[in-house]
Amino acid sequence: MESDFTPLLAARTQTMSGSAIREILKLLGRPGIVSLAGGIPAPDTFPMDVLEHLFSRVLERWGSGAFQYDLTEGFIPLREASAPYLRRFAVEAETEHILVTSGSQGLLDAVGKILIGPGDAVAVESPTYLGALQAFNPYGPRYIEIETDTEGAVPDSLEHLLLKDKPKFIYLVPTFQNPTGRTLSMVRRRAIADIITRHGALLVEDDPYAALRYRGEVLPSIKSLAPENVIYGTTFSKVFAPGLRLGLAVPPKGLLADWLVKAKQGTDLHSNTLGQALAAVYLEEGHLERQIPKIVGHYAPRLDAMLMALDRSFPADWHWNRPEGGMFLWAVGPAGTDTLEIYHQALERNVAFVPGRYFYADPARGEAAMRLNFTNADPDSLLKAVSTLGEIVSVQI
Ligand SMILES: Cc1ncc(COP(=O)(O)O)c(C=O)c1O
Repeated sequence: MESDFTPLLAARTQTMSGSAIREILKLLGRPGIVSLAGGIPAPDTFPMDVLEHLFSRVLERWGSGAFQYDLTEGFIPLREASAPYLRRFAVEAETEHILVTSGSQGLLDAVGKILIGPGDAVAVESPTYLGALQAFNPYGPRYIEIETDTEGAVPDSLEHLLLKDKPKFIYLVPTFQNPTGRTLSMVRRRAIADIITRHGALLVEDDPYAALRYRGEVLPSIKSLAPENVIYGTTFSKVFAPGLRLGLAVPPKGLLADWLVKAKQGTDLHSNTLGQALAAVYLEEGHLERQIPKIVGHYAPRLDAMLMALDRSFPADWHWNRPEGGMFLWAVGPAGTDTLEIYHQALERNVAFVPGRYFYADPARGEAAMRLNFTNADPDSLLKAVSTLGEIVSVQI
């Protein structure tokens, strides 16, 4: 007979919501379905052509060392090779100030673990990345929502929250945000850097998508404008392979880094050595810099196809943004639109997306919005899928 151990669960465990998106993603293996739901890189963008070479270089150089326990801070050759890569985002960091994490998600978990106590205020964009809420929830935060518009977080709203609620930290995805695809303008980056410096506030800048820019001007990270007030995080998931589970973090100088390291030690001791060694060679030999334009070349036509299909098939009372990079865009219907209902109808016609409500700390919001991913289907399938969605939303009242 099965025992029910549910009564043993800690009170905080009740706050661990399974990701609604993971549930949606489970459906997507269904034959014939076109998914605009995932945030999954196209497998064609993985550098399969150089992997054999990377493995043989790793074995030649480090042999069994690539399979050994290693530093919690990260494999030194990877941290050394990451310093020049981080300059792409205007992040200046010495090797000893760069930490390797198990994906960006690993950083978010460590941040939650060291900073959030029950009832502590944490400022997040509205909407925000669901995986961050999942990482923070077990520590019992009280979310305060920064107002956003088409340019991302509104600096005045942030300053107001800092004065009123004194959040432990602010969590932002300033470039090609997940879920909206929005990017903070230069003016706002400066304003936010100024605000956090004046208030002595701590910002977590989660930056997985900045390398995926298809057009427009490169913008520097907020970290570059307020280095001592920002924990910067990026990932190899979108520019190498997500299955490796590797990310980079650059905290402000000082004790915070030691606490992040201690938190990580309790979670996984360190990120996997073999993957870190592969990433080190991938960076050192310039494969990453050659791969990025290939990834961009792969995704840019997909974004264009999605935009063209939206322009053609969506009714005039729907609005969406035209991101210059990343993996998502955000479409919003007129008041009264229920994208969960649209989602169920779309699934019947083999199209999936993620309803907007899942990305809000306050679940009563976002009912009229949908997140559309354009990276994981070819342009023809995208055109057809968006046109199907267009038919469905056109008959909604
Ligand atoms: C904003 C954001 N942060 C973090 C992550 C997690 O990425 P990683 O694979 O690096 O853990 C994602 C993944 O989609 C993301 O969109």
